[in-house]
Amino acid sequence: MTLEELKKKVDLTLADLGVHDEAGVNALFSEARETMNQERQKLVSHSNDPEFPGLVKEFRNLCLARKRGLVARIDENWLKTAPSELRPVVGRAFNNLRVQAEHLYAEESLVRLAQKLREVEAKERPDLTLPGYRRPLGSIHPITRVQREIEDIFLGLGFAIETGPEVETVYYNFDALNIPESHPSRDDWDTLYIDSQTVLRTHTSPVQIRAMEKYGAPLYIVIPGKCYRNDKPDASHSPMFHQMEGLAVDVDITFADLKGTLDFFAKKFFGETARTSFRPSFFPFTEPSGEVYVSCAICDGQGCSVCKQSGWIEVMGCGMVHPQVLRNGGIDPDRYSGWAFGLGIDRFAMMKYGIDDIQLFFQSDLRFLRQF
Ligand code: DAH
Repeated sequence: MTLEELKKKVDLTLADLGVHDEAGVNALFSEARETMNQERQKLVSHSNDPEFPGLVKEFRNLCLARKRGLVARIDENWLKTAPSELRPVVGRAFNNLRVQAEHLYAEESLVRLAQKLREVEAKERPDLTLPGYRRPLGSIHPITRVQREIEDIFLGLGFAIETGPEVETVYYNFDALNIPESHPSRDDWDTLYIDSQTVLRTHTSPVQIRAMEKYGAPLYIVIPGKCYRNDKPDASHSPMFHQMEGLAVDVDITFADLKGTLDFFAKKFFGETARTSFRPSFFPFTEPSGEVYVSCAICDGQGCSVCKQSGWIEVMGCGMVHPQVLRNGGIDPDRYSGWAFGLGIDRFAMMKYGIDDIQLFFQSDLRFLRQF
């Protein structure tokens, strides 16, 4: 029965409706309950409309209004006028209907339902008032940072930055640098060969020759880049690592220029209190050759576990460019002289940031990289 039909029927008596027995009473009441239930379903489907609270009130009035509500009129027209023999049956049916009507209306539960539906929908619909997504910012890799820092110090001294190939000929990597066939660094165990005449460069020094050929003298350059050796990875070794080479070629360049420049560099990089010490060494491409030590930044030269109680840490190789190397680069050693150095950028970064394992640089672990 539709709502309209029910509205008409509640104004009539059971006798008017032709209901004379228990079965008729029960059928009529169950239809009435059914109709009210349908109205409630309609109401629920509007639970998200802004006018929902008004609709709830309307539904309450329809069913429960004191005088014109369905329940009141059923009471008036069906129950009160029922013949006495049907009274108990109608009374029971009426009570059920009234309880159900109150139950259907329970405003509270309807409002709670509406709230829940709104929440579900809010989850599916983006909240445009929230702040936008931020793409995470990357950061500069510690090796790149230290490389740039070293470059900046030398750029300030008037040096230029030069680079060269990582896949290098045996000639540039070894022969042109005076490194003889018999030198252990040329061994398969130390070098990664592409073929018998091609290697992954073992140092940045071959770029010295390439730059001398390209630019001639005078020449002031630093050469950053990746280098490769046949090394097993451990805390201080990596088959790929980074070097920074320095080269100054000009008239009247002396070992004093080398010492002065590298001492200045060490103070800029490690701090003004840093001191340098030059100790004799050997490289085939420099004569004389030296190793540069810097006073330990941890203990300021007092001696600690980092500097093995010596107060000094070895940081690079250097020397006066061998006359034959200048000649190999096309520069006349009788007119020009030069100095050179080579340092490990990775080691400088480890010292700077107190990192004890070179592998951390190459594992792309964000917990490590985010610190820089
Ligand atoms: N190439 C050397 C190495 O990889 C480092 C080096 C030492 C470079 C002395 C130089 C130098 O330019 O003068 O061990």
